[in-house]
This record gives sequence, structure tokens and C-alpha cells, in this order.
Amino acid sequence: VIAALLQAGDRILSLGLDQGGHLSHGARVAFTGKFFNIENYCLDRETFLLDYDAIRQQAISFRPKLIVCGASAYSRVIDFSKFRKIADEVGAYLLADISHIAGLVIAGVHPSPIDQAHFTTTSTYKPGGPRGGLILMGRDHDSRITVAGKTLTLSAHIQKTTFPGMQGTPYLNNVAAKAVFFRETLSDEYRAWQVRIVENAKNLADNLLDLGHDVLTGGTDTHMILVNVTTLQKDMTGVAAQQGLEDCGIIVNKNGLPFDKKGAAVASGIRLGTPIVTRNGMGAEQMSVIADLVDATLRAVHVGNDGRYRIDESTRNDIRAKVRNLCQKYPIR
Ligand SMILES: Cc1ncc(COP(=O)(O)O)c(C=O)c1O
Repeated sequence: VIAALLQAGDRILSLGLDQGGHLSHGARVAFTGKFFNIENYCLDRETFLLDYDAIRQQAISFRPKLIVCGASAYSRVIDFSKFRKIADEVGAYLLADISHIAGLVIAGVHPSPIDQAHFTTTSTYKPGGPRGGLILMGRDHDSRITVAGKTLTLSAHIQKTTFPGMQGTPYLNNVAAKAVFFRETLSDEYRAWQVRIVENAKNLADNLLDLGHDVLTGGTDTHMILVNVTTLQKDMTGVAAQQGLEDCGIIVNKNGLPFDKKGAAVASGIRLGTPIVTRNGMGAEQMSVIADLVDATLRAVHVGNDGRYRIDESTRNDIRAKVRNLCQKYPIR
């Protein structure tokens, strides 16, 4: 999409990587950051929510050619219609990258950007399909664009940029795998899975809040929960929390939080997600057990002066045994 719409040096307005955006939306180390003029919008400092008025003001002064919405670490609903209004006001295209929430969008659990954004993109493995991606277009598919003196539809332009612009031979096995996945997404079972993912995430967030954890934004609307682990213990870091949890058999990832004072490699937060435990059949009762196990681990992990984490061995073995016991009841599906 970016190759189709922009020339080197054109302006992109996107959510910063340090605010929960994705590398590909303009981080300096990514190709977008190298070839385009990127300005990032931020979340509100107090609420950690998207501030549409501030984004609008920034768009008016920056005049981007493309606005990117969508995130890798944002747990609340994204209002795509507000983004579209802003894009229309400043004459920008809107790209919604829904890689993280595509399953929820398919199932109608999160509002769809398809008819709001000019372009919607997603990776296909996150919502449960094969590796690869998708470019989707709704009502703007037959809007016109003039390129090198020729006028064509936006969808034709995207096709041409894809082939011969970017791709050689398509991976037909992958195309077939995507088709199988699309069929799966039409089933009641797929929809029920997505509904339960969000129910479980809300439950897990509530349990963690009850146990005294600093869940960003006070909960979640999606599959994802962000926790500031430094509130619980002053010297705690995201990386120590991640490693301590992993040592106990619980896989999460460290995550920089908006306006984080710690660098990305250390981070103040962790990011938890419920898609896999939900697919394995876990529900409300197990979310309470998981919250207890996460809580027990985070209280047992201590960070030394060398920045490394320590955890008492018998506590770790005890938590590990409980994790194993839970997982044995809900094996990987
Ligand atoms: C919002 C967002 N966009 C894009 C990607 C990249 O997807 P892929 O791994 O398919 O390149 C990710 C991956 O984490 C993501 O979170």
C-alpha cells in the first residue's frame, strides 16, 4: 500500500512504536522510517487512550499523505470512523493495520475498518491462518487515482503495485492455505472463539486489577492486556517480569509502555494475550487461576543491582507445577 501511494520523502502520520504502534508504521530502523517523512501521534498521557482531537490537530499541521492507524500494543477499541474523518479533512489516505485484532473484526467483536479506511491490512497468521498478509478494500475500491498521467481505480493500482511492482511468483500453497483459513473464519466455532477471547481477556484483566496490578486503561476491549509491573515493585522491569514468568512456565512478553522511561530492551510493562489459552478451552475459572499464578510470580521475582531477576527456587517449582497441572487439563489444540 505504501509503495503504491507514496514517493520517497512523502509524509506519514502514525502511532509511535514507543506508544504501541508497530515497527513497520515508521520506526527509524524499518523501511518506512528510512524512506519516508514520519511523524508520530501519541496516546493521552493520563488515560493512555487515543486522543482523536490531538491527532486531528497534528494532522492539520503536518499534512500527511497517509495516516496509519492500528497497533501492536493497544488494548482498547480503535474508532476508525474518527480516523477517516481526520484523513478526509486533511486529504490523506487512511491505512488501518488490523493485524492484532483481525480475528475480532472478522467475528464482529471489534468494529470493522473495511468501509472506513481506504485500505485495511492484516497478517494472516495472527488471527489463526497461515503466514502471509492481506490487503482489503471496502467502499473505496473503485475510487480513482492518477499515476504518471493515467487514471485507474485504487484497487487496480494496488494490484499493479503488488504485481509486477513488488512480487514475482505467488506462493500458491500459501494462497490455498489462506482460502482454507477464510472458510474457517465463517464458522460459528471461529466466531465463538473470538467472543471468548475477549471475555477471557476482560476476566483476566479484572482478576489482575483485583490482585492490585496496574492494568493500563483499567482493562481491555480486546485480546490483550498491558500491565505496568513497576507499580508493584519499584525495581521491577518488564524484562525481569517476562523472564521470571517464563521460568515459571508462563509466556508473556515485555513491552514498553507509553512514555516509558526505561528503554525497549528493559521496559516497564508486560503484554498478555488470551487467544491461545482460549483456543485450548480455558474460560473464566482458569483466568482466575492464571491471574493468581501471574500474581504469585510477579511478587516472588526480585531484581538485583545487576538488573537480573531472582526467584526463590521452591516458589518457582511450586508455580511451575501449578502451571503444568493447568496446561495438562487444556492441552494445545
Ligand atoms: C500491528 C502489526 N502490524 C504488522 C505486524 C507484522 O506482521 P508480520 O509478522 O506478518 O510481518 C505486526 C506484528 O506483530 C503487528 O502487530
